[in-house]
Amino acid sequence: MSESIDRDLTLSVNGIAYPVSVDTSRNLLSVIRTEIGLTGTKEGCDDCECGACMVLLDGQPVNSCSYLAAQAVGREITTIEGVMDGQELHPLQRNLLEEGGVQCGFCTPGMIMSATALLARTPSPSDEEIRIGLSGNLCRCTGYAKIIAAVRRTADES
Ligand code: FES
Ligand code: FES
Repeated sequence: MSESIDRDLTLSVNGIAYPVSVDTSRNLLSVIRTEIGLTGTKEGCDDCECGACMVLLDGQPVNSCSYLAAQAVGREITTIEGVMDGQELHPLQRNLLEEGGVQCGFCTPGMIMSATALLARTPSPSDEEIRIGLSGNLCRCTGYAKIIAAVRRTADES
């Protein structure tokens, strides 16, 4: 039986340093939601399949359900709470709403994190590149077309 060991860590999330004391086997998702209290990042499958738990680590999308919190020390973590500009919605948030790309909304935070990373590395993606960029994010509601349209519109606006 593996032994649990609590460790004092500092995680940098959305530019703020959070000291936490957590079992070293805890995944980043549970620490972000439970210890830090940022619940915008969702738990879906808890098995690296659905993308609901996507966050950015130094700008790269990562499924936080399958990543140890201890591994994120020294890296900048960005969650959905970190994408707004003050009270202003991020353009991806606004366009997802306006294009009808949000229904139940459970996939939306993870979609936005993946799309943010996609647009940072590929500012003018083709629809195929958008599909590939979002291929790790499952949506049970929308059929994807409206989400792709929202990402395309965001790229076209910038
Ligand atoms: S909850 Fe992490 S990939 Fe589904
Ligand atoms: S809007 Fe419901 S899962 Fe995507």
